[in-house]
Amino acid sequence: MRSYKFEEFTSVIERNIIEGTFRPGHKLPSIRELKEQYKTSTSTIQNGYEHLIIKGLVQSIPKSGYYVSNKLPKHYQQSLQTQNTPVVRDAVFENNLNLITTEHPGSKLSEFNVAAPGSLIIPQNLLLRTMQQVIREQGVGLLKYYPSHGSRLLREHISTRAATYQTPINPAELIITDGGLQALYIALASICAPGDIIAIESPCVFSVLEVIRVLRLRVIEIPIDSQTGFDVDYLKKACSGNQIKAILVTPNFQNPTGILLTDIQKKQLLQIAQHYNIAIIENDIYGDLNFNHYRPGTIKSFDQSGLVITYSSYSKTLSPGIRLGWLSTGKFFQQAEQIKFSLGSTVSPIYQETVNKLIHTGSYDRHIRKFRMQLAKNANFTLNLLSSSFPKDIIAFTPAGGYNIWVKMPDRIDMDRFYNECERIGIRFTPGHTFSFSNTYSRFFRIVFANQYSAKRITALKKIGKMFR
Ligand SMILES: Cc1ncc(COP(=O)(O)O)c(C=O)c1O
Repeated sequence: MRSYKFEEFTSVIERNIIEGTFRPGHKLPSIRELKEQYKTSTSTIQNGYEHLIIKGLVQSIPKSGYYVSNKLPKHYQQSLQTQNTPVVRDAVFENNLNLITTEHPGSKLSEFNVAAPGSLIIPQNLLLRTMQQVIREQGVGLLKYYPSHGSRLLREHISTRAATYQTPINPAELIITDGGLQALYIALASICAPGDIIAIESPCVFSVLEVIRVLRLRVIEIPIDSQTGFDVDYLKKACSGNQIKAILVTPNFQNPTGILLTDIQKKQLLQIAQHYNIAIIENDIYGDLNFNHYRPGTIKSFDQSGLVITYSSYSKTLSPGIRLGWLSTGKFFQQAEQIKFSLGSTVSPIYQETVNKLIHTGSYDRHIRKFRMQLAKNANFTLNLLSSSFPKDIIAFTPAGGYNIWVKMPDRIDMDRFYNECERIGIRFTPGHTFSFSNTYSRFFRIVFANQYSAKRITALKKIGKMFR
């Protein structure tokens, strides 16, 4: 069969429409963008778009651009519909995941797979200095049991700080936890019993999936659209046909897509939850890491029903070795407090007092301002490097904050070979298949840019990209 020059880009667009990544109404790249990306002429791009219009996949709107057609031909609609049926799944990984942290000689590897501030970015001096001050000031007081839901002063400081991003947190219903995952465990165990169904975002980070698996819950995976985030219509469909106990969502800079939901979407989610009387468990672990000047609010900002449980931790903003997170329990305080107590009563007082001091003195916010700027630069740098060194037709989500980029590799690439070559070159990404129970993301990988770029790391990234370009 004859092939046309424009098929290089039309086949990518067509595949994204078939797979539901580009939905009806989605704005497609301009002629200028495609010309630059594919190093081809205006007429080739125009001919390609003409071809997609004739196939009924694309519509052109004068003075606005090209869009995915609102009326896709029947056979395309069918393939979207089958994808769009909410499916209840057992929380079982199809592949054996190697989730246990292994010790390896880090210096030999360029790691882009650990979602935590890299050692060059962690405010080491600030943390160690503050810990020493806390030991001097509090002495043996640090060796006692603290209240099981945490130091009162720390809870008050967290609540005061949350008010600056319009999130009302009552210190009396706040529980201090050993990091974010413990907060999630407590939230889920407070609301659900084994076998219950929860709605989760898809893709979803594997550590969160592991908590869900351990609690023996069942899931409906709600797709995340590359442009608009958590698919609210799909959630509505899932809620109307199933007894869902909780909706687990990361509205601010989701891991791995980096997507930020708008206030309108946050309110829509809340309306659905209230309509069906379903709890929302909101993960705000990346919320402080916005790239522009506006620290986004939360779903809790709009909630008066107590159905929203929000949690966060300092692992992503300070250091994962500071085991400290929090859970704002809404109306589930009693159950949550009991579960927290059973998991070891108290979080280490030295961590509580250290974070308390950092927030109270303003040091935490000063550090966050610098950290966010560094991350925004790293995001730009990484996206540019991906577009200059990796295959031209990869799809990379542009994050609005946080430090993850979600990348889809083209179909022609043998992903086993890709990971083998990564290992050989000494570079590590997180494979996409670990982000779902349904094995949907085998062509994706996550790249973390939470460390400074050394010459060695840049060379390694370029090398693996060019090998598959
Ligand atoms: C979304 C999300 N939740 C929770 C965690 C774990 O956080 P913590 O180390 O505070 O338990 C991570 C990181 O692995 C994460 O990305």
